[in-house]
Amino acid sequence: MALDKNFLWGGATAANQVEGGVLEGGRKLSNIDLLPCGEDRKAVGLGELEMLEWQEDHYYPAKEAIDMYHHYIEDIQLFAEMGFKVYRMSLSWSRIFPNGDDLEPNEEGLAFYEGIFKELKKHGIEPLVTIAHFDVPVHLIKEYGGWRSRKLVDFYSHYAETVLKRFKGQVKYWLTINEINILLHQPFVGGGIIFREGDNKEEVKYQAAHHQLVASALATKTAHEVDPENQVGCMLAGGSHYPYTCRPEDYQEAIRRDREGYFFIDVQARGKYPNYALKKFEQEGLTIQMEAGDAEILASAPVDFVSFSYYCSRTVSAHAEDYQQATGNIFASIKNDNLPSTEWGWQIDPLGLRNSLNQLYDRYQKPLFIVENGLGAVDMPDENGYVEDDYRIDYLKQHIEAFKAAVEIDGVELLGYTTWGCIDLVAASTGQMSKRYGFIYVDRDDQGNGTMKRTKKKSFDWYKQVIASNGENLAVTEAVKV
Ligand code: BG6
Repeated sequence: MALDKNFLWGGATAANQVEGGVLEGGRKLSNIDLLPCGEDRKAVGLGELEMLEWQEDHYYPAKEAIDMYHHYIEDIQLFAEMGFKVYRMSLSWSRIFPNGDDLEPNEEGLAFYEGIFKELKKHGIEPLVTIAHFDVPVHLIKEYGGWRSRKLVDFYSHYAETVLKRFKGQVKYWLTINEINILLHQPFVGGGIIFREGDNKEEVKYQAAHHQLVASALATKTAHEVDPENQVGCMLAGGSHYPYTCRPEDYQEAIRRDREGYFFIDVQARGKYPNYALKKFEQEGLTIQMEAGDAEILASAPVDFVSFSYYCSRTVSAHAEDYQQATGNIFASIKNDNLPSTEWGWQIDPLGLRNSLNQLYDRYQKPLFIVENGLGAVDMPDENGYVEDDYRIDYLKQHIEAFKAAVEIDGVELLGYTTWGCIDLVAASTGQMSKRYGFIYVDRDDQGNGTMKRTKKKSFDWYKQVIASNGENLAVTEAVKV
């Protein structure tokens, strides 16, 4: 059995990592625009260092990113050339509501996205739209403390309702919040949270999580009311945890770490808090304020499908001393000697993708969507900007084979596959341009130099052939250099 003929092949980006133009068209700053390159990035992302204004001695890559704000026609043309059926993108909240709590949306911001949707339609590409991808208007952070405030539920709901109504008929596939579980690991990135003295950090994070879960359910409900054709998904930063050894306590730790992510999806897909979370709150003395009616809201609007990102698996242990061999930068993970690693220490595990698909499908029995997957690598372009990225093709080929096996052999329902960073973009964790994922090379470096010129890599034609054959032809042929 091959993949369904309507399988959605494509690529994914996020507004803050591609658009630039952060103060153009009436837009104002959002949290992610204030993440500098360099050593302060981590502390800002964790919510441990407040930096709510640009500082002169720091470089902020989101300011210009790859300037898709002015290049989207050319970029979409290239996506169309590869045969994309779907393009995953996000809206910038502060382009539409510059302060976040404005009563009226910014017409110029809405018109910008309308331009993109028209262009996609022209090429028969379906948009898959993330309403918030690491995105909180700065005013909402300064004034309300980001998602720690219940008020964000109203502001996000107003924003979601505005775009759902305005783009009715233009967008059918929606994701409410990108990698919602990142809130626990990078609270400023995921929720615009900056910790204050005396905070019980775990309580602040789970309170913000509750607000996001209620807001996500309300947006899902609205999406269905506005247009019954709408399909709404939740979005998990995926990749399962392996126990470091077969000691039962290591396996227990792997279950616990998987649940940190599943917690969000359990609520979004099943409509209620799982018992293990309620017990955690009780045992750790966390008081999470829930308003009357919240349980009903959560129950009333489970998502239609479950989407996730997958880059690697992780390895965990119940014993602190095992972490001396740690790898990766957002999730603490022990080096798994059975797997190769990327230049950034992310461990390459295609079978882990098949296993994740099976775990998620067993758990939720809903259609799945792989909305991010790819290899961040250093590319060496020749004088024409051409890159022989066989390493990227190899990574993607192995992961496509893995998800095909999950569909064809295991019977998992999979709607589509969008590779991450189909065009080179700013890396979320490090702010680097040199961590490239694209089929399209962008001439821009880590210091902000370069012409922004777009050129096709070897993987461009390979992916085109993969899509044209609906995933049947993954062979690597010799490329004709241009
Ligand atoms: C996911 C995010 O965490 O992984 C993306 O949704 C991000 O925004 C991607 O870019 C890859 O991570 P990085 O740090 O290599 O950009």
